[in-house]
Amino acid sequence: MALMKTKILPKLGINQSRQNSAAGGGVRVVAPESLDGLPPDSPEARASRRDLRVLNGLLGTNAWFGGVMRERVRAGEAVLEIGAGTGELARHLRPVAPGLAGLDLLARPGDWPATAPWFQTDVLSFADWDRFPVVIGNLFFHHFDPAQLAGLGAQLGGARMIIANEPLRTTLTARLFSLVSPLMGAHPVTRHDGRISIAAGFRHDELARLLQLDPEVWHWRAEETWLGANRLVAERRS
Ligand SMILES: C[S@@+](CC[C@H](N)C(=O)[O-])C[C@H]1O[C@@H](n2cnc3c(N)ncnc32)[C@H](O)[C@@H]1O
Repeated sequence: MALMKTKILPKLGINQSRQNSAAGGGVRVVAPESLDGLPPDSPEARASRRDLRVLNGLLGTNAWFGGVMRERVRAGEAVLEIGAGTGELARHLRPVAPGLAGLDLLARPGDWPATAPWFQTDVLSFADWDRFPVVIGNLFFHHFDPAQLAGLGAQLGGARMIIANEPLRTTLTARLFSLVSPLMGAHPVTRHDGRISIAAGFRHDELARLLQLDPEVWHWRAEETWLGANRLVAERRS
């Protein structure tokens, strides 16, 4: 992944997606990730979060979210990042969404602004969705099986916009990850979780369909990058 320039396939029309034709990718498999079971301050968890920062850098994650949000999010709209982890992405997005709220199983990050909400909770039991017209998630939705995603989609039904960046489930992504992991000195936890995450990732507009977004109510655009990201921007029809 480190050695190639990210190529984003051409933008697509409403409720369309395009396949990265260079790779196959099998049935989606959801399995537990090691990082989720580690004490957040353990050396293994710290190392794996450092690797996530590197991978997000290689994938151009922060820039992509920033660009989409600058273009699509309306002034004053409340934004919630689900699975916000240690707040890396939020830190980058503050200039675009100053009051951005975070949700994670983890405790509020030490440098999270006092004026911005933080919810330490399981996303599946969160109840304050109606406060947030814009919901974003990075490397998060792939944690959930189809029934959980359908439940989450029902909760998100009141939102105006959903923005997600997830692993692309292809054999090419898996091969690139195997190649890059040793080059970047990835921790064994990252190597394990990366494989699990890719197998649980998405193709085309699979995430929108698993969330069971109603095409009469939503339009969406799904993109796949050659470096292994599957990206969704879903917006409620006005
Ligand atoms: C792979 S990490 C991604 C973190 C961050 N978005 C990033 O890109 O660096 C997934 C995050 O989801 C959180 N998470 C997993 N399951 C969750 C759940 N059921 N509810 C809330 N957060 C969850 C984990 O604690 C972790 O911080």
